[in-house]
Amino acid sequence: MDTDLTRPRVEQVDPIDTLPPTFRWGVATSSYQIEGAVAEDGRTPSIWDTFCRVPGAVANGDHGDVACDHYHRMPEDVALIADLGLDTYRFSVAWPRVQPGGRGPANPAGLAFYDRLVDELLGRGVDPWVTLYHWDLPQELEDAGGWPNRDTAYRFADYAELVFAALGDRVRTWTTLNEPWCSAMLGYAYGDHAPGRRDLGDGIAAAHHLLLGHGLATRRLRAAAQSPIELGLTVNLSTADPATDSAADRDAARAADGLGNRLYLDPVLRGAYPQDVVADLAAEGVRIPVQDGDLEVIATPIDVLGVNYYFGQLHSGVDEQGRERDDDGRPVRRVVRRDLPRTAMDWEIVPESFTDLLVRLHRDYPGVPMVITENGAAFDDKPDAEGFVADDDRVDYLTEHLRAVARARQAGADLRGYFAWSLLDNFEWAYGYDKRFGIVRVDYETQRRTPKRSALWYRDTVRRVRGQR
Ligand code: NOJ
Repeated sequence: MDTDLTRPRVEQVDPIDTLPPTFRWGVATSSYQIEGAVAEDGRTPSIWDTFCRVPGAVANGDHGDVACDHYHRMPEDVALIADLGLDTYRFSVAWPRVQPGGRGPANPAGLAFYDRLVDELLGRGVDPWVTLYHWDLPQELEDAGGWPNRDTAYRFADYAELVFAALGDRVRTWTTLNEPWCSAMLGYAYGDHAPGRRDLGDGIAAAHHLLLGHGLATRRLRAAAQSPIELGLTVNLSTADPATDSAADRDAARAADGLGNRLYLDPVLRGAYPQDVVADLAAEGVRIPVQDGDLEVIATPIDVLGVNYYFGQLHSGVDEQGRERDDDGRPVRRVVRRDLPRTAMDWEIVPESFTDLLVRLHRDYPGVPMVITENGAAFDDKPDAEGFVADDDRVDYLTEHLRAVARARQAGADLRGYFAWSLLDNFEWAYGYDKRFGIVRVDYETQRRTPKRSALWYRDTVRRVRGQR
């Protein structure tokens, strides 16, 4: 018998097969990316409807007017999920559909769509997992200042309560926000996403008010719940490793991890903003607009942390000329390209980083169960004459990332489920329809859905792990 427990372990079984029978398996989508029907049943414009009309903002001038026409094809899409044998569907509710303009009473016609969706899912044995905010802020609220305006946090809490009143009797799991970093920084600091504003101070104010809205909504839902519910938020995390062991590179990695990851994790899970990030921001003349009591609200306990992971990055604090400061005297912050395979988004494929990230989350933020609420990849799909895509690149990506999740679980991380992004090819924000993340192909001319090889692989993997061979 081998009694040397220090010997490196060679994996005897595929780590995926060690995932427990209780593991949740799902797919995710979001309202603006798939629904279309932007002017039906009382829906008012969101910031994305507006942004898509700005010349040059979105590739090819694409927009979500029709998208995957999911609003009219919902039962067919639910059938796809059920046929794949998945147990959970994570979707988002469009705020301007259910509370047009972002204030006041609910719009029954808009809510009716989600009511039907939830019933359809439950009827097919699929658990609904609702995301309340996946980036489609009502335009009227942007006109009143958007997320940099503190009032938007309170409007969000009202909206959350109104959706919960309609669906809370059947929906058990609720995510307040999807990827607040993207809403705040891409939307208000870097201008790549709606509403396209470019001011670091606005981005940081948006981040704080998003988190405040998350905390307020969490409290309201908890108070309104008649039966046990699971509440949480979803953050997009990426690993930030230093390019070398130099002090400058390590500091650049620290700063990137701070602004991208810890600025969201720390207030929610530790009740405080990270001091090093506060100092970095102060050096840029930016202050987080915290008021008394905000951090207690933001740190309201959650039941599940949603993790979205796509890639890792290497950071350097030295520019190509070897300088640590730019012409304005600011520290150099640079992402270093590695010689690694990439997806069609030009994102590096680093599944090992996913394991590192999850193990680190378990270590630094213990006690919160995690679910992978998104993971997936865009590739340059080539359909055959029947519309079938033999997407072996996506199968490989998903396999390796699922293994990475299973390894993190073996190392002790409390991981409860995995959702692939995405069920369908859809509107990939500023990239329009060119970038396809679906495990099911959408032919946008005909709206025909064709499961790709990755969908069949996912179905078979889930069956195998559940022991349903
Ligand atoms: C994260 C976002 O939540 C989702 O909307 C997006 O399509 C995927 N990442 C891929 O970029």
